[in-house]
Amino acid sequence: MAPTVFLTRTLPDPIMRELRRRFRLRFNREDRPLSKAEILRGVRKADGLISMLSDAIDREIIEAAPDLRVIANYAVGYNNIDLNAARERGMVVTNTPGVLTETTADLTWALILSVARRIPEAEQFARSGKWTGWAPTQLLGGDVFGKTLGIVGLGRIGQAVARRAAGFEMRVVYTSRRRLPIREEKRFRASFLPLSDLLRESDFVSLHLPLTPESRHLIDRKALRRMKPTAFLINTARGPIIDEEALIEALRNKQIAGAGLDVFENEPAIPRELREIKEAVLLPHVGSASLETRIRMGRIVLENIVAVLTGKKPPNMVK
Ligand code: GLV
Ligand code: GLV
Repeated sequence: MAPTVFLTRTLPDPIMRELRRRFRLRFNREDRPLSKAEILRGVRKADGLISMLSDAIDREIIEAAPDLRVIANYAVGYNNIDLNAARERGMVVTNTPGVLTETTADLTWALILSVARRIPEAEQFARSGKWTGWAPTQLLGGDVFGKTLGIVGLGRIGQAVARRAAGFEMRVVYTSRRRLPIREEKRFRASFLPLSDLLRESDFVSLHLPLTPESRHLIDRKALRRMKPTAFLINTARGPIIDEEALIEALRNKQIAGAGLDVFENEPAIPRELREIKEAVLLPHVGSASLETRIRMGRIVLENIVAVLTGKKPPNMVK
């Protein structure tokens, strides 16, 4: 009999077809996240679980799933899963690295350009019917071209963001757990700086590291105070890397010029104070949201889950 796979949302059609072909598939037909009770019920008889970054797969859920052998997260990040609990139960956890790198880097640039050039504000104004004509001092932003881009976390996504900076003739600085070999730094035209110097020197600070106990609130009050008043903070990684309350304060006090955020500390909640700040460009976690990429992520999930359920080593096991 085919293994039972529990899927917490509905994925793009080609992936659903393939999942149905290979497994006894149980999935969430409604366009909403499942409650914890629903996930608990869903995993009880499942051999495989396909989870979203928005599902907290905690110890209680893991321990309620006696047959579960694999948790395939439909995301590159996996901070939503209790890895220790999974490991104790001998479950394999997989993610979808690589396939969403370029798509997320594109969105990072959309945010960089949007905050610098006040695109959402300008777009709303054009739509409002209130535009009375070109004016020399209307909606002035800042240049992106030639500025300094500070990348925090030069992994796959950070590198893809760095590559795009060459087209804007930017100076790229980065900080990372490990410094890259000089040859690699040359390839990305990026030079290493400790975080405090990067914050002081960058016009755009962009976060590209996973959420871990060490990176939680990495960007706190102290870090924000180091940034230039003309600088912008960009986050397409995970919300809790920034102390959101401290960011709201920094934006209100004009300590920094603006922020471009695709992720938030308590998703899907976005504090009203933040929503009222026009120097903040806010997106609803759409970093990987291109049709091609969401299908590619589905294929990777499939490869991983099929591998584990047929006794093979999956291509994307997380440690
Ligand atoms: C998106 O945030 C992901 O981790 O894939
Ligand atoms: C994760 O951070 C990645 O770079 O894919």
